Amino acid sequence: MHLNNAGAGLMPQAVLDVVGNHLQREAEIGGYEAADEAASRVRASYEAIARLVGAGPRNVAIVENATVAFSQALSAFDFHPGDVIVTTRADYPSNQLMFLSLARRAGVEVHRAADLPEGGVDPDHLRQLAKHPRCKLVAVSWVPTNSGLVQVALQVGAVCREIGVPYLVDACQCVGQMPVDVQALQCDFLAATGRKFLRGPRGIGFLYVSDQALARGLYPLFVDLHGADWTDPDAFTLGDGARRFENWEFAYALVLGLGEAARYALTVGHEGFERAQCLAALLRERLATLPGVRVLDRGRERCAIVTIDPARRDAVKVKLALRARGINTSSADRSVGVLDMDEKGVTSVLRLSPHYYNTEEELDAAIAALSVVLSRKS
Ligand SMILES: Cc1ncc(COP(=O)(O)O)c(C=O)c1O
Repeated sequence: MHLNNAGAGLMPQAVLDVVGNHLQREAEIGGYEAADEAASRVRASYEAIARLVGAGPRNVAIVENATVAFSQALSAFDFHPGDVIVTTRADYPSNQLMFLSLARRAGVEVHRAADLPEGGVDPDHLRQLAKHPRCKLVAVSWVPTNSGLVQVALQVGAVCREIGVPYLVDACQCVGQMPVDVQALQCDFLAATGRKFLRGPRGIGFLYVSDQALARGLYPLFVDLHGADWTDPDAFTLGDGARRFENWEFAYALVLGLGEAARYALTVGHEGFERAQCLAALLRERLATLPGVRVLDRGRERCAIVTIDPARRDAVKVKLALRARGINTSSADRSVGVLDMDEKGVTSVLRLSPHYYNTEEELDAAIAALSVVLSRKS
């Protein structure tokens, strides 16, 4: 029973076949030759990914994962001491670490907008912070990794547009879980990964870059020979489109797999999104009935990520005990969400993340198993 789709979803057979077939061709005729042979299918991958998020293929850069997508985007800004990055209290830990690294190395200030009483960022406070004359960027994890929350990413986009500040969205947990439309978001960058609710392979992700950001000439700090042309000893010209955010070496099999996963998600459509949300809501209801269990998800809008305090037990141990019973979940400790976890008064959380392919029977079985695990003395 796979209730760890926020970790990695299960690949459909079609994705597996596409990846396997390309690796087979690489072994048979050579990696570079297989890439040439697959050129039109690689282009089709860009088209499918672009369609999935409402973009054009030239606005999609395929990179290793969401973290690389995010850091490539972040590195496009020349931060100076006193510049401000505005973010939230629930942003992904690696993003927070990047901001803190920029604070340490470039003197950037990290301003985090306050939460609303019910959880989730307060867009009015964010607006106030984004109006800071030195605000260079607003960055928001639309769905944070561990809190079941859906941030008001569209409202934040409207605020950024109104003020004229660039907007970077981490949509890693969103793609494949909910509708994503970069035009509605009004974002300049959007980072995502393949392996989660999108059900693509591991080790591949993508970055959307808006026409506006491209026209401004933004490019990653360490652009390579795929993203730019070395034209003279001391000069280079940037590649066209979001390609400038990519690297030359490419996991072609995974790129094809990512494209297939995007096509699959487009076919499943909204029904899949709705079913995953319904299952998560059911799960929350049932988990709340277990003695000592506290459902930790906050915010007006919640998603298919359910987090609990497993009755003060160590979430790692609970996760492993469930796995021994054939139930996949995941756990996180405080370092994954220092602000969030301290506010909730927990040191570890158990995360259950259903997808549309899970069943109510599986949820019942997971609840029963969890009840047994928690009733035992640790
Ligand atoms: C909200 C969020 N952002 C970013 C990431 C990082 O994704 P990746 O591991 O593909 O770099 C994750 C991974 O769990 C995530 O949950």
